Amino acid sequence: MKKIEAIIRTEKLEDLKLALEEHDFTNGMTVSQVLGYGKQKGFTEYVRGQKVKTALLAKIKVELVCVDLDVDRLVSIIVEAVQTGEVGDGKIFVQPVERVMRIRTGEEDVDAL
Ligand SMILES: Nc1ncnc2c1ncn2[C@@H]1O[C@H](COP(=O)(O)OP(=O)(O)OP(=O)(O)O)[C@@H](O)[C@H]1O
Ligand SMILES: [Mg+2]
Repeated sequence: MKKIEAIIRTEKLEDLKLALEEHDFTNGMTVSQVLGYGKQKGFTEYVRGQKVKTALLAKIKVELVCVDLDVDRLVSIIVEAVQTGEVGDGKIFVQPVERVMRIRTGEEDVDAL
């Protein structure tokens, strides 16, 4: 199992949710509001068409845990849904997940996803 962590533009969250639904990836997701910076730290970036100059910009972090086989498809779906081609589009990190448990039933790993 893997965790896909995608840092995306705030305004792209709805597009991503729709794309995941369209492709039947509806097992679950975690969404957080985060602050961050990429390699343009301290330089100008456009946020919703507005020029902003700040070291920390508001982004959305989406976490999805899935089976290894789904990683490539999910990464493609995410990129297709949120890419604008402008700086600040975000990043995707894929990490190993050692163990999962559904608290209600005690089911584990793939059965708990
Ligand atoms: N190396 C990193 N480690 C952790 N988080 C990162 C890293 N790089 C980017 N992020 C997160 O992703 C968000 C968006 O990064 P961003 O898309 O600006 O990356 P970038 O490397 O500057 O690429 P681009 O040149 O396309 O802007 C950042 O605000 C930060 O939250
Ligand atoms: Mg950047």
